[in-house]
Amino acid sequence: MARLIDAGPGCPTPTPLRGTAVAEETGLAYDESVKAKTDHLYPLVSDFITPMEWPAVAPLVAAINDLKAEKNAVILAHNYMTPDIFRLVGDFRGDSLQLAREAANVDADIIVQAGVHFMAETSKILAPSKTVLISSLEAGCSLASSITGQDVRLIKERYPNYPVVTYVNTTADVKAECHITCTSSNAAQVVEAIAKEWNSDTVILVPDQYLAKNVAAQTDIRIMTWPGACEVHELFSADDVEALREAHPGVVILAHPECPPDVLESADFAGSTAALANYVKDESPAKVVLLTECSMSDNVAAENPGVDFVRPCNLCPHMKRITLENILECLTEMQHEVTIEESVRVKAKAAIDAMLALPKMENPLAFETGLAPMEIEVISPS
Ligand code: 13P
Ligand code: SF4
Repeated sequence: MARLIDAGPGCPTPTPLRGTAVAEETGLAYDESVKAKTDHLYPLVSDFITPMEWPAVAPLVAAINDLKAEKNAVILAHNYMTPDIFRLVGDFRGDSLQLAREAANVDADIIVQAGVHFMAETSKILAPSKTVLISSLEAGCSLASSITGQDVRLIKERYPNYPVVTYVNTTADVKAECHITCTSSNAAQVVEAIAKEWNSDTVILVPDQYLAKNVAAQTDIRIMTWPGACEVHELFSADDVEALREAHPGVVILAHPECPPDVLESADFAGSTAALANYVKDESPAKVVLLTECSMSDNVAAENPGVDFVRPCNLCPHMKRITLENILECLTEMQHEVTIEESVRVKAKAAIDAMLALPKMENPLAFETGLAPMEIEVISPS
């Protein structure tokens, strides 16, 4: 079994404490029918859910899976979902790029996005005929809220000769104003492709200044950016990496490219959430730390029982808004439907399609680590 090693100050987990009271409140009982539907699922989460908690969780899982079948719904679950959602009710799991590709092709009437709001918007942009639901309207993202469509219009007025790439962590309004989207799986590929198409030596990559700086270190293209940041990943520092190496000799340190550049400089490997999961699977390091959101370690640990995980945990409060309880409620009530004005959707789709039309890579692109951080121009919002 993978060992989860707590490596320092924990973070408050807003996941509601479950007990039989929850099941009673929802009118769901842990009866023979629920047991028959869920007994085989418990081993998938037994490292995270105690036998005492399971009678409260199992009825929710059974009810959600029944409703999905009844309503022809699928759940797209991001790698940052808690293991109960990720492993027990998620139909498709992955990073932002994988979930966007699934949304474009999925054969269902309803998509429930187990992720944050911009991900649900991406699904709606790509699958307009489907009903897209998100179980909490509070599941935002500090990157998505750092920039508006009007900001991008002003950027384009100021720099009309440079293509504007938006990280997929933005609203539909922002995507609609940009020339192409990228994710952390393909950012360098997108930047180089759009620079070539525009015959430009400079590309504007918004809104994540750290992702942009990390991409700049990987390419000869000049990159300008925007002062946005992920509130989870910006908390990691090179000092953390040093402290982890001291406390856990031999630990392999993996980082998400939303981390500041000095973190990538001192990490052993960097990439999207899917790239990090692939690394652990392929390399089976004895002891590993993922410098990213907390639940990622839970989910990757569950699939790699021989690997020990050190966990300097930073939690995304937005991702944690999504719970089994509110997924059940949103599917039951068909509430929190994501809608996008058609003129915006069509323009945003063009930016996503431009990304999806690039040659599909077999694996997400890794970010080279050990590179000196690059200073790049950060566009002032005023
Ligand atoms: P990925 O595309 O790597 O899954 O990242 C999404 C995200 O929000 C990371 O914070
Ligand atoms: Fe946004 Fe950061 Fe949360 Fe990802 S981890 S959803 S980038 S706030």
